[in-house]
Amino acid sequence: MNRRDFLWTTVLTGSTPLIARAAEEAPVPAPTVPEGPLPGLPTVTSITPDSVAIVWSVKGPCTGYVEYGNTPELGKTAYGSQDGLRTFDAAVIAIRLPDLKPGDRIYYRTVTAPIQFPNHYKITRGAAVASPIFDFGMPGPATEARIAIWNDIHQQAPTIEALGKATLAFGPDLIVLNGDLVQDQFNKEQDFTGALLSLDSGRDAWSRRPIAFVRGNHDARGSIARDLNRFAPRPHAYGYLGLLRVGPVGVLMLDTGDDKEGPGIYGDMGDFAAYRENQREWLEKAVADPRFASAPFRLLFCHIPLRWKEPESKGAWCSDGDARWSPLLAKARIHAVISGHTHQFWHSPPTGDRPYHQIVSGGPETTSTKWSPTPACLVKIEANANTLTLKVTEALSGTEHLQLELKA
Ligand SMILES: [Fe+2]
Repeated sequence: MNRRDFLWTTVLTGSTPLIARAAEEAPVPAPTVPEGPLPGLPTVTSITPDSVAIVWSVKGPCTGYVEYGNTPELGKTAYGSQDGLRTFDAAVIAIRLPDLKPGDRIYYRTVTAPIQFPNHYKITRGAAVASPIFDFGMPGPATEARIAIWNDIHQQAPTIEALGKATLAFGPDLIVLNGDLVQDQFNKEQDFTGALLSLDSGRDAWSRRPIAFVRGNHDARGSIARDLNRFAPRPHAYGYLGLLRVGPVGVLMLDTGDDKEGPGIYGDMGDFAAYRENQREWLEKAVADPRFASAPFRLLFCHIPLRWKEPESKGAWCSDGDARWSPLLAKARIHAVISGHTHQFWHSPPTGDRPYHQIVSGGPETTSTKWSPTPACLVKIEANANTLTLKVTEALSGTEHLQLELKA
């Protein structure tokens, strides 16, 4: 489907906002179909228990805002202003919708207007373009939950396509992008817009499901890695970490950072041990949060695993994160840690002082290669109050590597 097949409209200055009430009802007044390049379809990401960020790509210098509400009539507007200034960017616009409630259904559309600075005294605003109205559900107090996990997509289009199809067939309440979206380093804007914001592939499915982004080591590497917040807004003041309740599942996300740091490594620009220690302080409070502690099932998503089958392979697992976090995870009786990073499937059952499953999913390519010893896999979690089933399944072939059933 072409993006122009959706109902994009031109917003006329001073007119009543155009609201498409239902597919079969004509909007009032009749919409003007915009000419020229359209903005990208929005992605619902950087989710927290009470907010999401709506992120979309733009084609040139633009400002934008999001109209949203609990019904298709919308009614609220979020501008994402910072320090008194509304958004302005030539590549991507990201706006957080605050004060949402767990279990809410949210309707929204993006509005994008080109901005020009023709001379020192003038700023001009072009005709604004409104996206169709999309809706999504905030994870909440449901009795059942489905979570889909992708990892290490590394901008590989066939993998994104295969994972997309498998994910839509599964129908999750939440999608977790478990790190390494960029191919190698984050050196140009397209590295990230091409990863997160091209999920649309002409479809609006990614505008209708919340996504939790967990940062991978490659996403933290490169000359514009410090701009990541523009593309994937930091969900928490402490960084790329978070806590969510998805029905019977308590979800934690932590940022394992880079797998190499110290003098002589990447210009000695990393300070990840201190960052992991800050996360440990946050984790101490998070595991006591009733939204997590009362959940029948408790999971952690982090890009680099906290143990690996070859412990001597230093870059393959995050020994520093393990040392700092695992005692708290054990005390919180976490069931499983789900990771990527090694591009090779591995399942390690609970051990004495690490009493949780460690699961490592597949790699970035749809078939087995040197870069991707295990083909790209979708991790599917289905839970009710009594049972959680976790499957690791190859996205393209459907080959199953693991089926694990946990009891509350
Ligand atoms: Fe990777």
